[in-house]
Amino acid sequence: MILSIESSCDDSSIAITQISTKKLIYHKKISQELEHSLYGGVVPELAARLHVEALPKILEECKEFFPLLKAVAVTNAPGLSVTLSEGVTMAKALSISLNIPLIAINHLKGHIYSLFIEKEEIFPILVLLVSGGHTQIINVQSFEDMKIVATTIDDSFGESFDKVSKMLDLGYPGGPIVQEYALKGDENRFNLPIPLAQSPKIEFSYSGLKNAVRLIVEKLEIDGGISLQEKCDICASFQKTSVLHIMQKVKKLFKQEGYKIPKNFAIVGGASANIYLRQNLEELCKSYNTNLILSELKYCSDNAAMIGRVAVEEYNRKNFVSIQEIDVKARVKEF
Ligand code: KG4
Ligand code: ZN
Repeated sequence: MILSIESSCDDSSIAITQISTKKLIYHKKISQELEHSLYGGVVPELAARLHVEALPKILEECKEFFPLLKAVAVTNAPGLSVTLSEGVTMAKALSISLNIPLIAINHLKGHIYSLFIEKEEIFPILVLLVSGGHTQIINVQSFEDMKIVATTIDDSFGESFDKVSKMLDLGYPGGPIVQEYALKGDENRFNLPIPLAQSPKIEFSYSGLKNAVRLIVEKLEIDGGISLQEKCDICASFQKTSVLHIMQKVKKLFKQEGYKIPKNFAIVGGASANIYLRQNLEELCKSYNTNLILSELKYCSDNAAMIGRVAVEEYNRKNFVSIQEIDVKARVKEF
């Protein structure tokens, strides 16, 4: 079995995965949403302190599996340096004390492998990764061959939901809240600009859209305050535009000259839970005869089960790292 640790942002999570069957033997996650909601976003130092409390508590429950462990895996990049360090420190300590090899895992690879928890891999697959930190399209040919096809030039999809929620005083994390308010809103009430609509480039941008929302909010505030209905209408109009932006770019990609339409398309990451996005991509995939593959809702946001699933692949390839070599990287350019 492999014990895996995830602490790249505001979720402390540990999983135990059986190597031969890929079965998830144990999985627990303690989220810090409540603590960060007071500040309207993740406060890195607070997150790190909360990991120090939560990770040992979860580890305590895993003690019975210690004699069965063949390796310990940990997310070392990308993410918040101070929170990644907490998981990496724990993993190093376990590697030394249990005398088992250490495996470093790329968090984004983890999100891709959230599709394959307790399952076999499906290749080739085109993956849309939408989270708080990333908005990317990745061409996944195999475990070793993953290439970023498109990425955001500024904010990410999930982050823009968090910021709109903060502007409207609705709380953190913004994704599920904005989605909920949008249900009661009129998506055509505010005419927001679809980012990079005229650009032929396959890339994403959310800062302009966020600012357009900010201008509406400021004007309404000057005009006497924002009603509940107006908040719902802003959420609905914003959600529609943010998803339309993704749809336009995916369609542009599919229509590029000589582009081979993928047989399999997947959405992963915390924001892949967005129902509006899922519905739109479902329709698109249907029209192109492409299989849409989704991870289970419980594995969309950060978790150690997806890290454990990647770890099985790394273990089988004997991709180990020494405790001196393992480093924490806030950003990564490639897989
Ligand atoms: O993958 P994740 O748990 O953490 C990162 O690696 O960033 O993603 C969290 C992000 C947050 O920005 C959150 O607001 C967003 O995913 N999110 C959503 C939804 N649920 C979570 N965004 C849009 N719609 C949702 N339903
Ligand atoms: Zn993530």
